[in-house]
This record gives sequence, structure tokens and C-alpha cells, in this order.
Amino acid sequence: NDMKTFIQKMPKAELHLHIEGSLEPELMFALARRNKVEIPFATVEEVRDAYHFSNLQDFLDIYYQGMSVLLEEQDFYDLTFAYLSKMYEQNVIHVEIFFDPQGHTSRGVPFATVINGISRALDEGLKKYGITSKLILCFLRHLSEESAFETLEQALPYREKIIAVGLDSSEMGFPPAKFARVFEKAKAEGFLAVAHAGEEGPPEYVYEALDLLKIDRLDHGNRALENDALVKRLAESQIALTVCPLSNYKLAGVKDMRLHPIKRMLDLGLKATVNSDDPSYFGGYVNENYEVITESLDLTRAEILTLARNGFEASFCSADEKQAMI
Ligand code: ADE
Ligand code: ZN
Repeated sequence: NDMKTFIQKMPKAELHLHIEGSLEPELMFALARRNKVEIPFATVEEVRDAYHFSNLQDFLDIYYQGMSVLLEEQDFYDLTFAYLSKMYEQNVIHVEIFFDPQGHTSRGVPFATVINGISRALDEGLKKYGITSKLILCFLRHLSEESAFETLEQALPYREKIIAVGLDSSEMGFPPAKFARVFEKAKAEGFLAVAHAGEEGPPEYVYEALDLLKIDRLDHGNRALENDALVKRLAESQIALTVCPLSNYKLAGVKDMRLHPIKRMLDLGLKATVNSDDPSYFGGYVNENYEVITESLDLTRAEILTLARNGFEASFCSADEKQAMI
């Protein structure tokens, strides 16, 4: 149909994508075989059948298990290049991707292996597809402050490859405040900052991300809508929200896509963007996320264009780079 074609043809950016969450079951099997890693599934269908989640933690348990097949630099390259090939098909021309180094270093995979594989694929994606990219290092919030500091140290030799630090994994019980000192150090080292907040956690966590972590962009932020003063602050500062519609639905934060808050966010003057989060696990990449909200919320072309423009404006590109994309 019309809208689907409109979405497909529109140049887009993606600002909230966990590269490990783009691991499709087919590649998981191929890497398991190549690396002789045992996985608890017999077929690709069995893997897809296991992807039913009732909350974030449910998903994370399977997500961390899935990444166990990633061992060699080539694995990280193949993972990242597969994602970029998909983005090329979807007319996504700029991506800012998260990676979870602690999910790998905790299994004995060196930091260098991870970042070299990902970054070689990003270089190839620029050469082959013209896709520009930035890389964001996420700290796992269920691990210690000490472990986050260690990870930041490991990142320093690669600082020119990393634009920002972020915060992800289990939100409830792991408030941003726990990482205030790590983020302070990261900012002093010249990194920008983002954090997942208000995905499952309360508005107070969004306040902490703003005030203590000094974030430049908010990942998710759905529950900020519960607090009028916070909404006002986000609207006035125009700090962008990287919203992930299918993720919210699959993790049961939103029970019915017709109730998804993204249209309300736009109406409230928030700078919302559309992203896929963990597309392999949540059943859709960028275009499918645009399609589902367009259909369920009856979005106009003007609203769709605003969301896409927000994606470029909220990116960590320079003013000149943005000019060229919008
Ligand atoms: N890691 C991967 N996807 C995530 C999400 N949606 N929330 C928190 N941590 C994550
Ligand atoms: Zn996320």
C-alpha cells in the first residue's frame, strides 16, 4: 500500500539499536556451528518460538544467551555487516549502534575483538552502501560500578571510534545514580552520553539520567509521560527520545499498539524518534516499526516525516553532516 511505500522510500536514521539484538536465528546457528558452541535449540523455528517475553528481564535472559555464539572478530563483523545490509534495503542512511562489551569480555572475548569486528563492518558499510555510523558503548547496569570503570578504561585506546557511552540491561533496581561517577569520567574523556530510562523504570530514573548522568539523548523514556513537569522539561530542552514501538509491545510495556504513546509524545512537543532496539528478537527493523505505528495510530505523512527528521536532528552528527542528510 501507499503508506508502506512512502515509509520504504523515505531516508531514515536509526539511533537505538543493540547490535547483539540484530543476531538473526540463522546467523546464530551458523556461528554456533563455526565456533562449536552448544545452543539449546535444534532448529531456527525453535529459536523463534522461544521469543515470547513478558517483561524486559525475560528477554534479556535469552539475549545474553544468544550472544554466546559470538567469539571471533569475524563473528562481530558478520553480525554488523548483516545489519547494515538490511538497513541498506530499508533506506536507512545513518545508524548509531550500541554494543555491550561486558556481555563479551565476561565470557573471555577481548574488548579489541569486539570493537575491531564491529568497526571493520561499519567501514565496509560506508564504502559499499554509503551508510554513515556512530558507535555507542553501553555499560550493563546490573553489573558493578567497578566493572563499568574497567570497561571505560578498555575503551580509551579506541576513543576515536566511540561517540558516546550508554546504559542498558535490567532497569528496575538499577537506577542511573549507580553510574554517576562513571559517566562523569566518560564525559570528562570527551564522550557524549545516553541512557535507557523510563523503559520499565519510573520517571525518577529519567530525572537521574538527566541530572546525574547528564545525558545528551534519552533511550525509551516512555514512563516520563507520567510526570507533567518532566514532560515539560523534555519538551523545552528538546532532548530526543529514542522510542522503540515493537520492543515496547513485545516486552509488554504497551499492551495494544493502538495505545502506543509515540503520537502523544509528538503532540506534547517531545522530540521522538523511531527505532528497532533488538530487531531480531522483536520482529521488525526500522521500516516495520514505522509501519506498525502508522497503521495503529493512523499517523499522517507529516507526522511520519517529523519522526524521520527528528532522527537526523537528534543524531550525533555534526551540523554539516546533518545538513547533508535532511
Ligand atoms: N539490552 C538490549 N536491549 C535492551 C533493552 N530494550 N533495554 C535494556 N537493555 C537492553
Ligand atoms: Zn535498548
